[in-house]
Amino acid sequence: MSTVRVAVIGLGSISDSHLTSYQRHPEARLYAVCDVNEERARKKAAEFGAEAIYTDYRALLADEQIDAVSICTWNNLHAEICIAALEAGKHVLVEKPLCKTVEEALRIQEAVHRTGRLLQVGFVRRYDRNVQMLREFAAGGEFGDIYYAKASAIRRLGNPGGWFADIERSGGGPLIDIGVHMIDLLWYMMGRPKPVTVSGNTYRKLGNRAHIRHLSFYKAADYDAAHNTVEDMANALIRFDNGASLSVDVSFTLHAKEDSISTKLYGTKGGIEIDPSVTIVTEKYNTILNVTPQVDRTGFHFESAFQQEIGHFIECILTGKQPLSPVEDGVALMKMLCGIYESAALGKEIAL
Ligand SMILES: NC(=O)c1ccc[n+]([C@@H]2O[C@H](COP(=O)([O-])OP(=O)(O)OC[C@H]3O[C@@H](n4cnc5c(N)ncnc54)[C@H](O)[C@@H]3O)[C@@H](O)[C@H]2O)c1
Repeated sequence: MSTVRVAVIGLGSISDSHLTSYQRHPEARLYAVCDVNEERARKKAAEFGAEAIYTDYRALLADEQIDAVSICTWNNLHAEICIAALEAGKHVLVEKPLCKTVEEALRIQEAVHRTGRLLQVGFVRRYDRNVQMLREFAAGGEFGDIYYAKASAIRRLGNPGGWFADIERSGGGPLIDIGVHMIDLLWYMMGRPKPVTVSGNTYRKLGNRAHIRHLSFYKAADYDAAHNTVEDMANALIRFDNGASLSVDVSFTLHAKEDSISTKLYGTKGGIEIDPSVTIVTEKYNTILNVTPQVDRTGFHFESAFQQEIGHFIECILTGKQPLSPVEDGVALMKMLCGIYESAALGKEIAL
């Protein structure tokens, strides 16, 4: 195989990043698209030059022309479509989070092992060039043992509504939507230690703040101010078997002065700041140094990270290499995320 024939299932907001990246990739051919919304499917097919259009993903999966699929539907459909795609012999790139529950995650993992197909989880932050650079530093021991990591992604007014605010389709609010990226990024940078306990809190205090005037925010296509069944904010502390800990807080709405993002890790020999911009903290000759790597972009660049993620997927298919974000990591993240929700519901720390 020299060209991978791909299809994209689910043609909403994030699909454009998949479609564009496939279109630009010399070894990928965007062959088909699928959405239950036929008009949307026709429009995207015309825009991105896909020759086959489907409204039923099962019919798409029966098409033998297709080698691989991107799954860009709501979270509640990830497990069902992943398993059907693997069983149909397709390689799978599934958007984050892997799915909604640990039980679903384990079923997807079993299908990957049974079918021998490749599955890559769309943890796009891992594919950012700065993250890959810092991971190389960390693997080389530059930061020593990383024992504390923390991330914060705060929106004061940013509940997108639609499926994001519908727990049946999303599985949760800012924790499963944004927290998944932040926890995965920290955990990956820490070298993926084994989580042993989680303690979490979730709050539904402010709702979606739909009454706020004079300040706009991103709204899903099917935004309905009256429908919101997810948490406003969540925080958590995860403890690992090597004694390291990770803390995170995320929100869709909060009485914060402004939106903010921060991702930091601390080791015995140095520290790392990833968000909002890359910095390395170290010491030399009894002096603390804040080092600024000279890179093309000091902050996260979504478009290039996405191109890297898609490029990696195609490379893995063509070479048989294992993905950087395999199904096992998707399962581990579901255990942490669901553990946080469970801990919050019980009001106590839980063992994983
Ligand atoms: N990597 C990232 O940073 C990132 C960013 C945004 C969203 N996402 C993820 O991407 C996924 C989609 O999010 P979105 O914001 O694009 O949602 P969206 O609502 O904009 O798009 C989802 C699409 O799926 C379609 N769909 C629903 N059921 C379907 C079915 N049975 N078959 C085919 N199509 C179906 C819908 O009609 C819609 O067009 C989610 O899992 C989300 O977490 C990832």
